[in-house]
Amino acid sequence: NRPFRIAVLPGDGIGKEVMPEGLRALDAATKRFGIAIEYRHFEWASCDYYAAHGKMMPDDWKAQLQGMDALFFGAVGWPATVPDHVSLWGSLLKFRREFDQYVNLRPVRLFEGVPCPLAGRKPGDIDYFVVRENTEGEYTSLGGVMYEGTEREMVIQESVYSRVGAQRLLKFAFELAQSRPRKHVTLATKSNGIAISMPWWDRQADEVKKAYPDVALDKQHIDILSARFVLQPGRFDVVAATNLFGDILSDLGPATTGTIGLAPSGNLNPDRTFPSLFEPVHGSAPDIYGQNIANPIAMIWSGAMMLDFLGRGEGACRQAHDAILAAIEAVLRDGPRTPDLGGKASTTELGEAVARNIAS
Ligand code: NAD
Ligand code: IPM
Ligand code: MN
Repeated sequence: NRPFRIAVLPGDGIGKEVMPEGLRALDAATKRFGIAIEYRHFEWASCDYYAAHGKMMPDDWKAQLQGMDALFFGAVGWPATVPDHVSLWGSLLKFRREFDQYVNLRPVRLFEGVPCPLAGRKPGDIDYFVVRENTEGEYTSLGGVMYEGTEREMVIQESVYSRVGAQRLLKFAFELAQSRPRKHVTLATKSNGIAISMPWWDRQADEVKKAYPDVALDKQHIDILSARFVLQPGRFDVVAATNLFGDILSDLGPATTGTIGLAPSGNLNPDRTFPSLFEPVHGSAPDIYGQNIANPIAMIWSGAMMLDFLGRGEGACRQAHDAILAAIEAVLRDGPRTPDLGGKASTTELGEAVARNIAS
C-alpha cells in the first residue's frame, strides 16, 4: 500500500490563505487514522506564475500531474493582472476537461450555529447536492465576434452537449440519489425557452431514469428552481444541472446556508482514468485577500471529500472524512468564527480549532 500522492495547488488570493488550513486538517486526520500521503507542492496554476512566465502552467503540466492520485486546489484568478478567461481556461478549466472530471459534486448543507438567511430554517432543512456537468455545455470556445466595430457587430457562442456527457452525469446523479434516503433527482431544465438542447436534456433524463425505478425524477425550469432553493429548500435531494446552471446554483445554495465560505466541491473523474480535483466552490476573493479572514471550511471540507473519494467511501479514509466533518460541525456550533460567519476570528484560528478537534 503506497502513500496517496496529492498535488497541492494553492493558486491565487485567498487560495493561498485557506490551503494551509486545508493541509492542517488533512495532517491531523491522516495522522490520527494512519493514512500515508505524499504531497507535491506546485506554484504554477497561478497568476503569479503567469506574471513571470506569460502562461499559467508549464508545457508539461499534464505529465507532472498525471501520476497523482488527486489534486488539492485553492482558487485561481487575479483579474487586476490577468483576464479571468485567460487564467481560468489556462488552469482549472483545463484540468476539468483534460482529466475528464465530468462530475462537479457540490454539497449544500445548513449547519447548527450558522445564521441562516432564510427565516425559520434549521439544520436538516437544507441538505442536498448539486451535481454539475463539468466538461461541456455552455462553457466552450466555439464561436466568435463578427463584424467588430461595425453596426452589424455580433457574437455567437455555441453550447455543446453530448449524449455520453449528459448520460454519464445523470447516471451519477441517479446513483447518488439511490444511496440517499429520499431517492430524489431534480433536473434543472429550461425546455420552455431553450427549445433545442433543454428538451433534449429532458429526454436524456427520462431515458437514464428507466434504470432507476426506485428514484423519483422531477424536472424544474431553472428560474422557478432557483426561487425554490430560497423558498422551499426541503424539496431538494440531488440536483442535476448543466455546467452554467450548476455553477449558479452552487453559489446560490450555499448562500442560503449562510456563506459561500463553507461550500466544498469534488471535480470527479468517477472512472478514475485521471486524477480528480478537490477545491472550494468560492474563488480567490481579491476583496479580502491579505487580511487572513477568509473562511477555511470550504477548503477543509474539500479535503475530507478528497479522502473519501480516495478511499472509495471505506476504511480509514472514510473514518478520516467523518472525523473532519464532525470537527467542522463542532467548531461551527461553538468555536471561533470568521467575519462571514458573523465573528472576528482569523482564518488561522478557525483552521487550528478544526485541526485540534480532529486530533482529539
Ligand atoms: P469569489 O468567490 O472569489 O468571491 C465572492 C465574494 O465572496 C467576495 O466578496 C469574497 O470576499 C467572498 N468570499 C469568497 N470566499 C470566501 C471565504 N472563504 N470566506 C469569506 N468570504 C469569501 O468570487 P468573485 O469575486 O466572482 O471572483 C474572484 C476571482 O476568483 C475571479 O478571478 C474569479 O474568476 C475567480 N474564481 C475562481 C474560482 C475557482 O478557482 N474555482 C471560483 C470562483 C471565482
Ligand atoms: C466555479 C467557478 C468557475 C466556474 C470559474 C472560475 C471559471 O465559478 O468553480 O464555480 O465557472 O466553473
Ligand atoms: Mn462558480
